[in-house]
Amino acid sequence: MAMRRVRYYEYGGPEVLTVEDVDQPVPRAGQVLLRAEAIGVNFVDTRFRRGPGSGSIFQRPLPGRPTGDVVGTVARTGPGVDPQLVGRRVAALAEDAYADYVVADASWLAAVSDHLDSGDATMLAMSGPVALRILRAARLSSGDTVLVHAAAGGIGHLAVQLAKLFGAGTVIGTARSSRKLDFVRSVGADVAIDYTQADWPDQVRAAAPDGVDVVLDAVGGPVLRSSLDLLAPFGRAVVYGAATGELEQIPVAKLFALRSVTGFNLTAWRRADPDQARRETAELADLFEAGQLRTTVHASLPLTQAAAAHELIETRSHTGRILLIPA
Ligand SMILES: NC(=O)c1ccc[n+]([C@@H]2O[C@H](COP(=O)([O-])OP(=O)(O)OC[C@H]3O[C@@H](n4cnc5c(N)ncnc54)[C@H](OP(=O)(O)O)[C@@H]3O)[C@@H](O)[C@H]2O)c1
Repeated sequence: MAMRRVRYYEYGGPEVLTVEDVDQPVPRAGQVLLRAEAIGVNFVDTRFRRGPGSGSIFQRPLPGRPTGDVVGTVARTGPGVDPQLVGRRVAALAEDAYADYVVADASWLAAVSDHLDSGDATMLAMSGPVALRILRAARLSSGDTVLVHAAAGGIGHLAVQLAKLFGAGTVIGTARSSRKLDFVRSVGADVAIDYTQADWPDQVRAAAPDGVDVVLDAVGGPVLRSSLDLLAPFGRAVVYGAATGELEQIPVAKLFALRSVTGFNLTAWRRADPDQARRETAELADLFEAGQLRTTVHASLPLTQAAAAHELIETRSHTGRILLIPA
């Protein structure tokens, strides 16, 4: 059976994304085949697509097989997978994800109720679990002041909401434009600051004179460096990426003032504590279903417009989630 799929065969701009007609993939042992309903497009794939110049953490071989937060219905199961999964609505992080049909690892399927819309459902694959776990990795306590960088992004706008739900005091979100700052406030941040302004650390100090207890950062470079100075005694920074591609060296002397830095990566977390990781995905599903957590969908584009989706992310135009819709 034929289907459409988007890959790239050379590194470059969004235009290298190529829509092709291919046979549906066959799920192997431990895999399922999903009929995709929506695919959440993530920032990291725009960097992989740019190729080696993006920085050492963004290396992927050719042909490029974009990953994505897929929600869909199980169409087939591979050997060793419960056939009763066929027909279930699930979410999964997968490779070769910009396609009508997508193969996914059966052991990391998130159950998705029929009540969830596509935007929320895609968040259960990767972005939601990251947003939740970085707050737990930060050992967030009630009343803590939290600084969320890139707060208008896919993960960022969930992290702001979750920080509030988990009892944070002041939540400060950073982003790049006044439109994004309005958005950051609209999802619950008490203070929104443009971190492209040179005095942004002073603006944080004005909002949090005693320092911040938690920093969530996946921007890297000078943003991370300045953030460490903003930590209060016993403050915790969680570093879960580097959108700038700049892998900051952390001077040990900055930590002497009772500060700590923790790294986070979803794959490492799922390996380290798979049972808790699964419980947290179910916890997120409940929060979405109860309407306590909401995904803002910036744009829903046809699958064939994957290049436009990447363009939106690379021009830093989006607030929240971008979806590709196969139908
Ligand atoms: N550790 C993990 O397991 C894990 C898993 C998934 C994602 N991540 C990381 O989490 C971060 C957020 O992912 P996401 O998919 O939700 O992306 P996103 O936040 O929707 O998009 C990335 C954002 O980074 C900001 N940014 C800052 N400096 C930038 C630069 N030099 N170039 C481009 N953007 C820049 C932009 O916001 P402004 O325009 O407002 O600055 C942009 O919107 C990414 O860094 C990603 O690599 C980590």
